[in-house]
Amino acid sequence: MPRFDAVLFDLDGVLADTAHIHFAAWRRLGEELGIHLEPAFEEKLKGVDRMGSLELILAHGRVERTAEEKRVLAERKNGYYTAAVAEQTPDDLLPGARRVLEEVRAAGLKIALASASRNAPPLLQQLGIAPLIDAIADPAAVKAPKPAPDLFLEAARLVGAVPERCLGIEDSVAGIISIKDAGMVAVGIGDPTVLTRADYVVPTTEQFHIGDFL
Ligand code: G6P
Ligand code: MG
Repeated sequence: MPRFDAVLFDLDGVLADTAHIHFAAWRRLGEELGIHLEPAFEEKLKGVDRMGSLELILAHGRVERTAEEKRVLAERKNGYYTAAVAEQTPDDLLPGARRVLEEVRAAGLKIALASASRNAPPLLQQLGIAPLIDAIADPAAVKAPKPAPDLFLEAARLVGAVPERCLGIEDSVAGIISIKDAGMVAVGIGDPTVLTRADYVVPTTEQFHIGDFL
């Protein structure tokens, strides 16, 4: 009997090559506010939801804004992001992403998405992988964003899997904490010196094979 019933995927930086697009949009907004974001700041924003990311950037620049101004700024960043994402096609999937999804399905496991992004459903359509995914956890439907475990627990619930039999796959520090605090097994995509709480780390999605975990 396999160790897992479901694989719960993050989207940006795991399946879609969009992590750098999010960061480019934040950098552009930052420049407009006189806040320079050095490349290392990208890691801090990965997996962090839209308003949480804006709060980190404003705090970094010691800039204060009212709640209404923040709403407008977050909306502006989203405009930059969605304009770039509208150009995405199946060719923009990260290498190995489609193969990984197909292998997980072929192994008889469920697939759920646990992405903080409100743009996930249209992005999945554009990338042509929506039919490979059984359920999408809605970040608006859970109490606390990553690094809280809520979104991964919701993804597991949607596919009827208990946490101990779920494998979570993430490229962000916040997301790995979510998976571990949800009581699941975590695979990090990236650098093991950054994703220190992951149970396993592979450098890119291309190196992930579900067969290694069954
Ligand atoms: C993902 C990305 C974050 C992004 C968040 C919200 O977790 O890693 O960089 O801030 O989604 O995305 P959204 O598309 O809703 O602004
Ligand atoms: Mg990610």
